[in-house]
Amino acid sequence: MVRQPTRYGGTNWLAESESAARDRTHFGLTQERWHQMKIGVIGCGYLGAVHAACMSTVGHQVYGYEIDVAKAEGLNSARTPFFEPGFDEMLSEQLGTGRLAFGSDPQPLADCDAVFICVGTPQLKGELAADTRYVTAAFETVADVVRSNALIIGKSTVPVGTADRASQLLAERAPHLTVAWNPEFLREGKAVKDTLRPDRLVFGVENEGSEELLREIYADPIADGCPVLVTDFPTAELVKVAANSFLATKISFINAMSEVCEVVGADVTQLADAIGYDARIGRSFLGAGLGFGGGCLPKDIRAFMARAGELGVDQALSFLREVDAINMRRRSRMVEMAHEQLGGTVIGQRIAVLGAAFKPDSDDIRDSPALNVAAQLLLRGADVVVTDPQAVENARRKWPDLTFADTPMEALQKADLILLLTEWDEYKQLDPQQVGAVVRHKQIIDGRNALDPQSWRDAGFVYRALGRPRV
Ligand code: UDX
Repeated sequence: MVRQPTRYGGTNWLAESESAARDRTHFGLTQERWHQMKIGVIGCGYLGAVHAACMSTVGHQVYGYEIDVAKAEGLNSARTPFFEPGFDEMLSEQLGTGRLAFGSDPQPLADCDAVFICVGTPQLKGELAADTRYVTAAFETVADVVRSNALIIGKSTVPVGTADRASQLLAERAPHLTVAWNPEFLREGKAVKDTLRPDRLVFGVENEGSEELLREIYADPIADGCPVLVTDFPTAELVKVAANSFLATKISFINAMSEVCEVVGADVTQLADAIGYDARIGRSFLGAGLGFGGGCLPKDIRAFMARAGELGVDQALSFLREVDAINMRRRSRMVEMAHEQLGGTVIGQRIAVLGAAFKPDSDDIRDSPALNVAAQLLLRGADVVVTDPQAVENARRKWPDLTFADTPMEALQKADLILLLTEWDEYKQLDPQQVGAVVRHKQIIDGRNALDPQSWRDAGFVYRALGRPRV
């Protein structure tokens, strides 16, 4: 089939549709369940790029609008700006169908049926609150550009009240447009699965027409039994920050227990197993260790506290201050433990740090606990060598003074101390005997409670971990 150029810079999806439909066996989707709509996505970072490609996978025609020209061009040439398992392959495949294109011209959004707003809401410098200027700019863009009666669907994590404000803005400037809020719950490292097969869909809407359109867009996961909750705007906005606050609280709860365990010589991993068997509690997100980081949990709980303050209900969320403080204390505790293990000073000692990303299966170093600890030790005079399967380049840009190694075995050479700070599978599978043969001193601190203490001790290592007894 001859591909014809389109205004999106991709290929003519109508000419392509027959072959595209034949190809679509991916992710278990069949031709009968192909619902074609024109969808725009504003903001093609982590959330937007994955969402755009996933929408194309289920058969929609998708245009991703991204103001960063280099990023848009990269995506259009199947170059992913981040590491996400399964995404590269999916992006190339979807670009190949002609249904997906990216660009930095907003005009192709003009006749969309729906436009998703997926821009970032980072923490404001020097404040707890979120910076919502990109969300406002996105709504201004749709007001200026979109001519069809499109549904404008917010996905970004925002302070409660944002959707109402956006709705007012559109009522004044583009009354033919309607707002809906559809928060996103994707996890980095599992973003493709979480987007194609979400565990729930939340539709914050003001009328039945908006709900119907959202049901059509998400016909596939809904047909597979994904629960749909239809709410008002504030509830939809709150669901996201409430969920992230709960997850952060769960992690900090077990890390608070970890602090107590350390003092009395108890084992926090056994404690977590034992309480986790209670179905009301559950074992997930009770992984004690260095705590949470990334682009979401830390900034979301802070923005939520800031918004609660503005609303006069700051007392209701004062516990989140403690959640944040417990989390940050884990990082200082890890630095302290390294000092203890190295006889009171880290100056001139070689510390091998395994992991730089904020969690495994990601190259994201935003508020990474691992990198925070590595940098603190560097600033205290240690010779720190960091390795990570995916995040070395990002980490080097942020902390050029750290030393980086491409492989764990290279990082471990002549180490006086090993810190496991991000629990990548390949680190969990390291052979303690082999590691023991290359280090200078056999000492390891497991910052994620991810290793089998016995096998390391059997190989002659001093094994220590946060929240576990010393032997
Ligand atoms: C999170 C939410 O899970 C997701 O629903 C939301 O859309 C975005 O924010 P993400 O930031 O990708 O996703 O990471 P997540 O898997 O939630 O982990 C967050 C942090 O908590 C990581 O640093 C991880 O290492 C840490 N964590 C997680 C723990 O310390 N212990 C645990 O038991 C689980």
